[in-house]
Amino acid sequence: MCGIVGYIGKNQALPFLLDGLKRLEYRGYDSSGICLKNNSGFYLAKKPGRISELESQIDQILAKGNIGIAHTRWATHGAPNEINSHPHVDCKGSIAIVHNGIIENYNSLKELLKGEGHIFVSDTDSEVVAHLVEKFYEGDLEVAVKKSLKLIEGAYALAVLDKTSEKIVVTRKSSPLVLGIGVGEIFVASDVPAMLSKTKRVIYLDDNEVAVLTKDGYAVKNINGFVVDKEIYEVAMDVEQIEKKGFKYFMLKEIFEQPEAIENTLRGRIKDGKIRLSVNFNPREINRIIITACGTSWYSGLIGKYLIEKLSGISVEVDYASEFRYRNPIVRQDDLIIVISQSGETADTLAALEEAKKKGAKTLGIINVVGSTIAREVDSGIYLHAGPEIGVASTKAFTCQVTALTLFALYLKQERGDLPSDVILEIENIPQKIKEILKKSEEIRELAKIFKDAKNFLYLGRNLNFPVALEGALKLKEISYIHAEGYPAAEMKHGPIALVDKHMPVVFICPQDAVYSKIISNMQEIKAREGNVIAVINKEDPKIRDLANYVIKVPETIDELSPIINVVPLQLLAYHIADLKGLNVDKPRNLAKSVTVE
Ligand code: G6P
Repeated sequence: MCGIVGYIGKNQALPFLLDGLKRLEYRGYDSSGICLKNNSGFYLAKKPGRISELESQIDQILAKGNIGIAHTRWATHGAPNEINSHPHVDCKGSIAIVHNGIIENYNSLKELLKGEGHIFVSDTDSEVVAHLVEKFYEGDLEVAVKKSLKLIEGAYALAVLDKTSEKIVVTRKSSPLVLGIGVGEIFVASDVPAMLSKTKRVIYLDDNEVAVLTKDGYAVKNINGFVVDKEIYEVAMDVEQIEKKGFKYFMLKEIFEQPEAIENTLRGRIKDGKIRLSVNFNPREINRIIITACGTSWYSGLIGKYLIEKLSGISVEVDYASEFRYRNPIVRQDDLIIVISQSGETADTLAALEEAKKKGAKTLGIINVVGSTIAREVDSGIYLHAGPEIGVASTKAFTCQVTALTLFALYLKQERGDLPSDVILEIENIPQKIKEILKKSEEIRELAKIFKDAKNFLYLGRNLNFPVALEGALKLKEISYIHAEGYPAAEMKHGPIALVDKHMPVVFICPQDAVYSKIISNMQEIKAREGNVIAVINKEDPKIRDLANYVIKVPETIDELSPIINVVPLQLLAYHIADLKGLNVDKPRNLAKSVTVE
């Protein structure tokens, strides 16, 4: 969702800006633009569509300059056309801004500025920032930006240029922004991968900080003008990690990376049969857990509920972050709030965390992106160490989240005096078992060929595998645009069964667990209506072979760990269907990787 890139330094800005924008493509966007500053003023180019279209429009002779800002826009206010694309400029064309987030009071600001004679050209909320800076500009860009911030309500990451000074002013509130420290050059971006080919030394800006970037360096100040001594982090990720390594799509690469990613989530956290996590609360003092998240992370939270309740006996509620934040939730001091987020930047999840903190609860984050806003805001955290996830549809982050939640459930059980558990022994076998499933990718592609033109899909599971059904359906609809619903298998009788006929593929997730006989009955109900049954099984059973039209067999494991195994063939099925349909698997329409607006 909207990406910002900026450069100031000894080299030409354009190559980095374009490369940086491409590396932020995964966030989702529908237009892009750049602004370069040189001796003759600004060079501005904007274009709806892909970055390649912007690139082909850029005049390589004119697009010169050592200072520049660039943007990928994911439309919120106003259509994705050239005028609404960033950078936006003021009336005189001497201030240029790029913005990520939403200016909530933009209507009243726009009226105020129009009343003062400012002329607006776009439908965006962002354009008010350019005019506000113009209003306050008296020769010092930093002062003008700070005065503007006092009037702005909402969420923003901003990078601002003016025609006369040799600097970029950047700032943020509830939207990510990172500085990259090079030799004789400074980079700025919404996310680290944009600058990884240039530097691994980064500074994470915090809310309400304003940084002034010049060719000689940077200065970060708080909103009151006091210099903030920021820590420089050395990023551990490599450029290779954010490249496709021969896979057609990042999503496929990330599906195949799951064995290694899960090993990384487990690394150092099980020793001598004990779980080692560092949290700064006493697990014996927790009476209730509330898990809150969005999207796929919400589904892993639902599996977390089953696991934590089963293993530790603590009651767990799971809430959509967007609902939690606005319903004045009952939160007690002996509650633990777990926030789950791959990116660590999802606006609703961040707001839910803030709400929980305000109410005095303890907080734990299960996060992938190191140094992200949520990771820095929680009291304690478990990093996934899954490596960068670029494909918009989450895969390896999901299985690693479930792994981390399993570790946490076991940790609670242990700290409340009740270990050992066979889950500890088995969890270390999971990466190898996933490798077995990955060998079936071509077999699953054959199945995908049969179903790629289906209009609807049902996914059914029970107990721990009900959230897997939800996730399987979400993967399919996200990337193939086929309508799909996930349901608890028995609940299917209360509605979706009306949709079942011979055209309806129904995916059953049916390992031989405690509810196996029940799910067989549900399968019979579908079969009686001529539904096309695809069964994900973990043991041979003639009954299933009779009932199912197609079977995908996965390795056996214990019930608690079966979601991690069972979701993998569903990821592959969704991937192959979308690829066979010729769709852009990594960048599905309308979706964004990091949803930084509510
Ligand atoms: C977007 C992404 C999903 C992701 C969700 C939550 O919708 O497309 O893949 O599950 O945001 O993101 P988070 O980074 O908080 O896990």
